[in-house]
Amino acid sequence: MKILIIGGSGGIGTALVSLFVTSKPEAIIYATYRTHRPLIENNRVRWYQLDATSEQDVRALANSITSLDILINAAGSLHLPSRKPEKSVNEFNPDFFNHNIQSNVVPTMYLAKYFAKHLKSKQGTYFIAISARIGSIEDNKIGGWISYRCSKAALNMAIKTISIEWKHKLPNCCVFAFHPGTTDTNLSKPFQRNVPSNKLFTSDYVAYCLLELLDAAEPTDSGKFFSYDGTEIPW
Ligand SMILES: NC(=O)c1ccc[n+]([C@@H]2O[C@H](COP(=O)([O-])OP(=O)(O)OC[C@H]3O[C@@H](n4cnc5c(N)ncnc54)[C@H](OP(=O)(O)O)[C@@H]3O)[C@@H](O)[C@H]2O)c1
Repeated sequence: MKILIIGGSGGIGTALVSLFVTSKPEAIIYATYRTHRPLIENNRVRWYQLDATSEQDVRALANSITSLDILINAAGSLHLPSRKPEKSVNEFNPDFFNHNIQSNVVPTMYLAKYFAKHLKSKQGTYFIAISARIGSIEDNKIGGWISYRCSKAALNMAIKTISIEWKHKLPNCCVFAFHPGTTDTNLSKPFQRNVPSNKLFTSDYVAYCLLELLDAAEPTDSGKFFSYDGTEIPW
């Protein structure tokens, strides 16, 4: 079994790499980091440095791997040192909006473009993007965080569209978006104050939830948006 984790240096990504090392003892795990390589040393984990917004980087990675069973994109961004997500549309800034689109949408497009052939198999394969419930248009009751919200809505549309396109091209590939819930990582750190402790998950718990979902999902689940607890979220 071969697994690729994009953003393997993030909170959720690192937990996924560690969990696959222990739960899939036969698996080769390809994992990427952008800035700092995590300290997970295992002869089944192969680390690559990659900027997921760079087409050249994604193409080079695709050229160095032959086939995959599972691809998970766990890279993403919510805030920058200089910018927090907007409370109101009055704070809209096109550079920050474009940063959100670049970080949260473009990588999944490149990954689908360059890794479709790796996921073509007679066995079940998986193409998963970590999205966020905030990207559900139907579920949007409170507004706010407009750039991040729009980027995750666009990511959701990308996942749905890829799943439709691949129904015939890759009939055994299950394509879905995954909402991890509020997870204790650098991404959520500045926004955890009002989150009840039983709603703030560890990365290890969320990685385990995704593994449970992977073990249960069939190609007929392609094109769905799943929450960490296995329930479906409306797009
Ligand atoms: N934490 C939450 O509460 C929460 C809730 C809902 C959804 N999510 C989603 O879950 C995913 C993972 O987030 P996290 O909580 O694990 O955040 P995190 O700890 O901040 O990790 C984010 C990861 O994304 C990587 N990354 C960002 N831009 C990249 C780029 N251009 N190229 C390559 N890697 C890039 C970072 O790499 P470097 O560190 O090397 O720069 C890091 O590995 C994100 O898509 C996020 O939107 C998280």
